[in-house]
Amino acid sequence: MRTITVDQVRGHFRRAALEHGFVLDPAQEQAADRLAELGAALGRGRRRGPFRRTPPRGLYLWGPVGRGKSWLLDTFFEAVALPAEHRTRVHFHAFFRRLHEAVRRHRDDHGHEHSAIDAAVSELLGDVELLCFDEFHVHDPGDAMLVTRLLRELHARGVVLVTTSNYPPAGLLPNPLYHHLFEPTIREIEQRMDVATVAGPRDYRTLPGAAAADTAFTRGAILWPGDPEQLRGEGLEPPAPAEAVTLRVNNRDLRVAAARADVLWCGFDVLCEGRTSALDYLVLAETYATWVIDRIPPLKSATGEARQRFVNLIDVCCDADVRLFLSSDRPLEELLAGDDLPTDIVRTASRLSLLRRVG
Ligand SMILES: Nc1ncnc2c1ncn2[C@@H]1O[C@H](COP(=O)(O)OP(=O)(O)O)[C@@H](O)[C@H]1O
Ligand SMILES: [Mg+2]
Repeated sequence: MRTITVDQVRGHFRRAALEHGFVLDPAQEQAADRLAELGAALGRGRRRGPFRRTPPRGLYLWGPVGRGKSWLLDTFFEAVALPAEHRTRVHFHAFFRRLHEAVRRHRDDHGHEHSAIDAAVSELLGDVELLCFDEFHVHDPGDAMLVTRLLRELHARGVVLVTTSNYPPAGLLPNPLYHHLFEPTIREIEQRMDVATVAGPRDYRTLPGAAAADTAFTRGAILWPGDPEQLRGEGLEPPAPAEAVTLRVNNRDLRVAAARADVLWCGFDVLCEGRTSALDYLVLAETYATWVIDRIPPLKSATGEARQRFVNLIDVCCDADVRLFLSSDRPLEELLAGDDLPTDIVRTASRLSLLRRVG
């Protein structure tokens, strides 16, 4: 098996930064050093066979949005000397959705929860030795149980975990009603992983030119006042009443204004005030490349659940690279104003700042 030294991984970070024209800030340098050590240790490790070694400790990188955490993770992932079938890099949302599905399927076969999770993890990860989760988070007490089991299973298999998160481990499952349920798992994370902050002085997404990254997401727009004239100007024909249709998503009915070949048109109330989950958004994102979400109210007038769903919705659309149009009769500043919005709203605002503003 190919081996790689700490200096070689460091060199990879340097070259990647140079190619992008980045100057790494001190927080990024430190994280890159930790990742280089981990990369070299992974290259040395033999996990199977009679000379099985203890795998190196995982690494949990956390910090505010736009600090280059995902970039560090991607660059590390390219550098490690593991064959493709032994490493996986996934967005946590996407992985977790697949895990849910696989557990449900295996539960029907095995009838037993523990073996269902075991079988689901085997199915999803096979021989993976390195698992990289981008945007690790836990918001839902139901999800927290499965996250706990997943982390234990990964540990038992000797899978090395590298995550990025906007939260320190102690800030996971922030809801004070449920936080205590996750505390034992938080302690396990802290015992098994090194924790490092990537909290440089600036949000690189707000640098001039940063939004120029040409993705489907950045070709979307925020439309105010979102009247038919303005929508047509963006090539979006407002739905006729007859286009309203009920979509069945993860055993739930969603009444949307239109579901065309690749455009989903839906009201905020349906997507965020109904009992939808991030998993539903992921499924929809796989089918519809362009979304128009209209009638977005100022979030402070929405329910707490709807505010959190809106945060998840923007995360899913950004990560799945959906071309997103938000339309409202209020300007963006009013939509996001308020004191008791979810703390993640900062990430939402950062991501929405990538969209064009029309109005
Ligand atoms: N040192 C840097 N200088 C300039 N831009 C950077 C630097 N590090 C990262 N970026 C860019 O900043 C943007 C945000 O980085 P990202 O990795 O998505 O942040 P995070 O995952 O912490 O939210 C990306 O476009 C990334 O390529
Ligand atoms: Mg990121």
